[in-house]
Amino acid sequence: MKFSKDFLFGAASASYQVEGAYNEDGKGISNWDVFSKIPGKTFEGTNGDVAVDHYHRYKEDIKLMAEIGLESYRFSVSWPRIIPNGDGEINQKGIEFYNNIIDECLKYGIVPFVTLYHWDMPNNLEEEGGWTNKKTIDAFVKYADICFDAFGDRVKHWITFNETVVFAALGYLAGAHPPGIKNNPKKYFQVTHNVFTAHAKAVQNYKEMKQFGEIGITHVFSPAFSVDDAEENIKATYHANQHDINWYYDPVLKGNYPEYVVKQLEKNDWTPDWTEAELSVIKEAAPKNDFIGLNYYQPKRVAKNDIQNENSERSRENSTGAPGNASFDGVYKTVMMEDKTYTKWGWEIAPDAFLDGLRMLKESYGDIKMYITENGLGDEDPIIEGEIVDIPRIKYIESHLKAVKKAIEENINLKGYYAWSAIDLLSWLNGFKKQYGFIYVDHKNNLNRKIKLSGYWYKKIIEERGENL
Ligand code: BG6
Repeated sequence: MKFSKDFLFGAASASYQVEGAYNEDGKGISNWDVFSKIPGKTFEGTNGDVAVDHYHRYKEDIKLMAEIGLESYRFSVSWPRIIPNGDGEINQKGIEFYNNIIDECLKYGIVPFVTLYHWDMPNNLEEEGGWTNKKTIDAFVKYADICFDAFGDRVKHWITFNETVVFAALGYLAGAHPPGIKNNPKKYFQVTHNVFTAHAKAVQNYKEMKQFGEIGITHVFSPAFSVDDAEENIKATYHANQHDINWYYDPVLKGNYPEYVVKQLEKNDWTPDWTEAELSVIKEAAPKNDFIGLNYYQPKRVAKNDIQNENSERSRENSTGAPGNASFDGVYKTVMMEDKTYTKWGWEIAPDAFLDGLRMLKESYGDIKMYITENGLGDEDPIIEGEIVDIPRIKYIESHLKAVKKAIEENINLKGYYAWSAIDLLSWLNGFKKQYGFIYVDHKNNLNRKIKLSGYWYKKIIEERGENL
């Protein structure tokens, strides 16, 4: 089988992780500009002030992407670059920058796939309560409208939010992302509801503009599997999926919240402050979603948590994303298993679980169009005689692309695959040490770029449309 012509082979990035130029050309300060400078918050104090300087080197970078043969580039727009204080004047230089990126992509026939919110929020909005404050919903919707208006003639693929579960949970349960709040489920759920509302309103507006493109959201896709057949572990796994899959996917795709979680929230007094009007916007917008984006790195292996009082404060504060944590409510824990394979950062490598998870999604949500908006291997790449021979990354992507191929053969509606990442970039909490890119960035040598072995390998896959996978 060959991948069809309308299947997009791409790669992705995010503004804070690549751009740098954090205070140039009128950009406002973001929550991450502030948070990353608090001692102890990031790996060796790394931050995105310069990142990999994509802001100044985007032409060179997009040329290299074209050399790899990328059909699409997923990147995010930095909200504070467009509206420095989040809810006021537009920064024309910011608009110009993304116009340039888009035009540069189109010059090479690369389809721009744009994320509006990949975590960098104007800092003054964060100071006013960030996503717990309903004013942020309106500010986001305005910002989204501005982007649709400015770029929508050329951008036909829009993602509103990247991975709500990550910025909400790490921001309000683990305290590892801004605003660094720990163990506050009430706020955590409020954030999720406010984001779903903002998403729904942005979708409605986009459709009203009749730009004839598509819009959706990107979620973490980390399906949970029980470690064994014990009933208590199966129940714990159900709980995990209800919380981390259904709570996020149902409001967007079905237009309502899963009963199971709603009941738990009522019991614990965690129900968000939600109005009838917000609930109906969510309902009305659901069928207007054109697709869902999935970021898949690893599944969850789940067991019942039986250590009393083990709660979310735990090790997630030094978040590596590896298993070994109890859920915020203490109901389940994720575990490492002896018969599984893990990356250097302890993330399980599991293409089979990827395929099983996709089957689960089809069962729950039917034929909704899906894109894999992130998937990749974080590694320290070997350099031999000046060449970056990232064979483990090739193996990783190859096995996951095979799963995608199999899924398509089973009529799962997948329309694109975006490797994380197009270019080496700043990992939020793991600095520059953990590399993901097809393009290497030499931090000891003027941030020089070079295509890795994986880039040449991906080029061939694209040329053959995956026939030999
Ligand atoms: C995803 C994010 O959660 O995972 C990316 O959308 C991130 O922004 C990626 O870089 C990998 O995470 P990490 O922690 O390995 O950098």
